[in-house]
Amino acid sequence: MEAMAPDRATALFFELFSGLPRQGPGTTASTRRALGLVPDVGPRTRVLDIGCGTGAQTLVLAHGSPAHIVAIDNHPPFIDALNREARRLRLTDRLEARVADMRSLDFADGSFDLIWCEGAIYNVGVEAGLRNWRRLLRPNGHVALTEVCWRKPEPPAECTAFWNREYPAIRDTAALVEAVEACGYETVGHFPLPASAWWDDFYGPLQDNVTAFRRRHRDEPDAQELADQCQHEMDIWHACSDFYGYEFLVLRVR
Ligand SMILES: C[S@@+](CC[C@H](N)C(=O)[O-])C[C@H]1O[C@@H](n2cnc3c(N)ncnc32)[C@H](O)[C@@H]1O
Repeated sequence: MEAMAPDRATALFFELFSGLPRQGPGTTASTRRALGLVPDVGPRTRVLDIGCGTGAQTLVLAHGSPAHIVAIDNHPPFIDALNREARRLRLTDRLEARVADMRSLDFADGSFDLIWCEGAIYNVGVEAGLRNWRRLLRPNGHVALTEVCWRKPEPPAECTAFWNREYPAIRDTAALVEAVEACGYETVGHFPLPASAWWDDFYGPLQDNVTAFRRRHRDEPDAQELADQCQHEMDIWHACSDFYGYEFLVLRVR
């Protein structure tokens, strides 16, 4: 099939992922648990939520702490949605969402006490993200992130093939912890996200989106191929979810 024009590919992608409670795996309880591992979060704490999407975890942070939060994402409709929600919830005095690229953040050095990044650091790679964002943190600053990890050795061939293609940087938790510590952080704590983190607010609603998207774009092969790819990702999860999952890590600058 002919390659899709980039604008159409992007538009179809965001249409497929629109209206979801979250744009990646996660749960409210996991965000709260990770926040509980960060000491002394108070009204003077400044948080940067990177790759916030529509802000599922941002709102948990805002409700679960008195901190000041800046949330960034490079997709303007997500930022508009989060700012609308912040206005509705009367949180705008301490929650502000901005369009920005996590590859080139222009905040001053030492602007934040805590960097939050759920399901998004993979866009730049864990090591690059941790090294480049470190300058944004004050001394004793913390980072909380989630990242996909292998959970068991010898996954089925289809599962290995999927991850080799989509995200060859996937590793097991021990290797991830070793990698983050080599970037100049110490691990305060880490824990796996439950399987429900994939389904309840992400793949479940996404499955409904895929069905409706296929109907809307019935005679458009490029859209059907995108839906096939998305379905394949969810089918791999159904078949092989024992072998991989997300890990929450809370880190402190060394
Ligand atoms: C898997 S989603 C996770 C969103 C949200 N944190 C959640 O857990 O629901 C990854 C997010 O990263 C954003 N993103 C991708 N590349 C980015 C970049 N270069 N700069 C900022 N955001 C980016 C996407 O728009 C998307 O919202």
